[in-house]
Amino acid sequence: MYKFVIKGGKKLSGNVVVSGAKNASLALMPASLLSPGTFRIDNTPDLRDVTTMSQLMESLGAKVSLKGKLQVIDTTGVEKFEAPYELVKKMRASIYVLGPLLGRYGYAKVSMPGGCAWGPRPVNLHIEGMEKLGAEVTLDSGYIIARAKKLRGARINFDVSSVGATGNIMMAAVLAKGTTVISNAALEPEIVALGEFLEKMGAHIEGLGTPTVTIEGVEDLSPADFENIPDRIEAGTFLVAGAMAGGRVKVSNCKPADLTSLLVKLEGAGAKLETGKDTITIEAPGQIKPVDVSTAPYPGFPTDMQAQWIAFMALATGSSILTETIYFDRFKHVPELVRLGADIEVKENIAIVKGVKSLKGAKVMSTDLRASASLILAGLVAEGTTEVLRIYHMDRGYERMEEKLRGLGADIERVQSDEF
Ligand code: EPZ
Repeated sequence: MYKFVIKGGKKLSGNVVVSGAKNASLALMPASLLSPGTFRIDNTPDLRDVTTMSQLMESLGAKVSLKGKLQVIDTTGVEKFEAPYELVKKMRASIYVLGPLLGRYGYAKVSMPGGCAWGPRPVNLHIEGMEKLGAEVTLDSGYIIARAKKLRGARINFDVSSVGATGNIMMAAVLAKGTTVISNAALEPEIVALGEFLEKMGAHIEGLGTPTVTIEGVEDLSPADFENIPDRIEAGTFLVAGAMAGGRVKVSNCKPADLTSLLVKLEGAGAKLETGKDTITIEAPGQIKPVDVSTAPYPGFPTDMQAQWIAFMALATGSSILTETIYFDRFKHVPELVRLGADIEVKENIAIVKGVKSLKGAKVMSTDLRASASLILAGLVAEGTTEVLRIYHMDRGYERMEEKLRGLGADIERVQSDEF
């Protein structure tokens, strides 16, 4: 087990390079199950979740390697179609194998994902979508068992905008017989990237990045190479770090257009921003102005930036309200931020953040991926030393975080810890 030991108060400045998008990789990898052969996916991040997805795909018979940023996947030997609980419980995105296995092999047995730190995360939209495509789905001893001779195109509407369900249904529909129309489809850049990858494999998809995606099923697909998109949440996390810890921070290898809602809020808080083709430079505000935020599906303010924003607003010159509309109880980071001296009150899915003059270092515990990011950001500016425990959560979604922060001037060490 490891913890981060952070000595707060160091100004951050310099350049940080963003890695490939975790939430795109976790969809691109299972998409390769739709066709036998060798796929090369560049700009793949070296993360715990990517390793978990690799283990899952290898348990199905695929071969997966990552050399630097180049991931090579060989799906010729895929001969199993079951995603075991041991792997799915580590990562909810494992459910992404359901669509491609069902679409290509007509059978999939996938463990129901467990809950996560912030509560239940249902998969009803995934299951209902597969049934609409003609699959017979049963739930048995914690497993989703889906069968279909041949999936048939269908009209599918999601009551709730769902990144995962949109991706899963797209991967099932590309080999279905006939036309599938998905309405209220997710617009997230990671889903657009998945669609572009499927198109490179020979799929016929219209409307990517719009609420209505139309898929003409094809007989079969072929292997393809792809360059993963930058991770907009990692980029956003470093922008908030720059806004909190002062100085000028340049975030490179990112897509400014993917971050518009966050950039508007950062400017509202008083930060100065300059954007280039694939860079964003942030100048920290002298004083942090309080800015209310309500999370929403893309292109709204990302729920995956909510915890980081609360850490930022903890030091504002007034009160701000953060409304979480995607996951109502995604606030496990709040009690830990309060241990650092933040003044935050949570009522149902709303956090009221009263800015304080300063935070004071303490020992705090990560509970999930973005919560750990928020605690690290707070530790960067807290007086004295902050120890962030259980940073295995952080390793799921941030590549070499401490190295990148040290490169900006932070005093942060990864230390062995048997504290649980
Ligand atoms: C993806 O999760 C991301 N994960 C999450 O990022 C992100 O928080 C989330 O989208 C929302 O943007 C990956 O892409 C691997 P959803 P996903 O289906 O697909 C409800 C991170 O930090 N819902 O878009 O699981 C659900 O409860 C992770 O990188 C149903 O009701 O999210 C939620 O309220 C955390 N039924 C809303 O939809 C379903 O069948 C959005 O969830 C599916 C979802």
